[in-house]
Amino acid sequence: MTDDRSEDKKPAPNAATNPANELWGGRFAGGASDIMQRINASIYFDRRFYRQDIAGSRAHCNMLVAQGILDQDDGHAILKGLDQVEAEITAGTFEYDPAKEDIHMHVEARLAELIGEAAGRLHTARSRNDQVATDFRLWLRDEIDALDPALRDLQTAMLDRAEENADTVMPGFTHLQAAQPVTFGHHLMAYVEMLSRDRGRFADCRRRLNESPLGAAALAGTSFPIDRAATASALGFDRPTANSMDAVAARDFAMEYLSAAAILSVHLSRLAEEIVNWASAQFKFITLGDGFSTGSSIMPQKRNPDAAELVRAKAGRVIGDLNALLIVMKGLPMTYSKDMQEDKEPVFEVADTLTLTVPAMTGMLGDLTVNREIMAAAAGQGFTTATDLADWLVRELGLPFRRAHHVTGSLVKMAEARGVDLDALSLADMQGVEAGITEAVFAVLGVQNSVASRTSLGGTAPVMVRAAIAEARGKL
Ligand code: ARG
Repeated sequence: MTDDRSEDKKPAPNAATNPANELWGGRFAGGASDIMQRINASIYFDRRFYRQDIAGSRAHCNMLVAQGILDQDDGHAILKGLDQVEAEITAGTFEYDPAKEDIHMHVEARLAELIGEAAGRLHTARSRNDQVATDFRLWLRDEIDALDPALRDLQTAMLDRAEENADTVMPGFTHLQAAQPVTFGHHLMAYVEMLSRDRGRFADCRRRLNESPLGAAALAGTSFPIDRAATASALGFDRPTANSMDAVAARDFAMEYLSAAAILSVHLSRLAEEIVNWASAQFKFITLGDGFSTGSSIMPQKRNPDAAELVRAKAGRVIGDLNALLIVMKGLPMTYSKDMQEDKEPVFEVADTLTLTVPAMTGMLGDLTVNREIMAAAAGQGFTTATDLADWLVRELGLPFRRAHHVTGSLVKMAEARGVDLDALSLADMQGVEAGITEAVFAVLGVQNSVASRTSLGGTAPVMVRAAIAEARGKL
């Protein structure tokens, strides 16, 4: 379904040449000007709600019949007609017309063509205000439900790579300066944790949004003896919303979804940035698969990480969409204002974006080659085991940590001046700085020993990383 506002009609010079709106035009002599119709219409995007809109109408119709507000025959005709409308939209034979504004009016107008007057009874005890809020919540609930398995697949791809690389040493960075050796598996597991929280945020959002606004009507509720609990349960909501004004005015469910999406996108962009770095000729930590690289039309040696760059960039779009909705909603008085029609496109754009970025990341991780030797060689560069040396001085010689830090600093300075790593200094060199140092110190200067020693809870030792992977797999 493509968004199409390109009808490109010239605004009529005389606004009143259009007929009055069939559904609300009773008190209007003439119709809206063309440009009014075009700014007012949401059909080119809210037609994405057609299934939810029709499901809401079915639930409402059944409830009206059960409550004796609508007679059986009309109810039956409405349900049959709704089936037909849904079939036409699904088949692509349905005709859209910006004069009918939105999906709610399109469905009702077509229903009237199909079944006549009875169609007009469906709108008893409801309003487009509670309809649109209902549709939106139902739609977003499905979207969140579809996103979760994609996030789980991404975590699985991370866990698979982490498991293969539980022992693969690499430099761990702070300030993008080599800090201490870590394993690549440990590094990936950091993202598994972030994604677990992302999934939790979407699950929270889903839990809170799963209340039915239907029956709040325009804003005040209705004088008809409706059964809101029945429509709520028919639509899979946990309960009806408690306040009719909140029901039609609230969009925090959408803001919450966009917030969760923005945070997720920030996480994805950080990993994307790392992939871009790691794949560069300067790092060479990984080689991206052909499926996720592009060439250059002029530089034959190039292998560009376009997918990673786009995942990194699309976070900007998602953050922008969150901002767009927050700014639309800020300062709106109770209850519904037409401003709120602008709530949908940012959410649609974000949902569409996540259907690209999440699987792209999953694909890239599955497809890349880890250059273990290069990572391991880099792991020891930049005196990354200096902390191990200081810790050894504390543990074996009983030096206070501050003194150990100072001694280690002197040894780093010496190695730096000679252009060698710490483990290339001789024992005599070391004893010249701290007489108590013995041959045993060399064991902690190697990167493998360094990572193996970090067995504290949540640490980078391969044994801990394997345990973390097993635990994470259990939770998936
Ligand atoms: N198309 C509208 C929207 O998206 C539906 C609600 C219209 N309500 C109204 N009072 N005009 O928000």
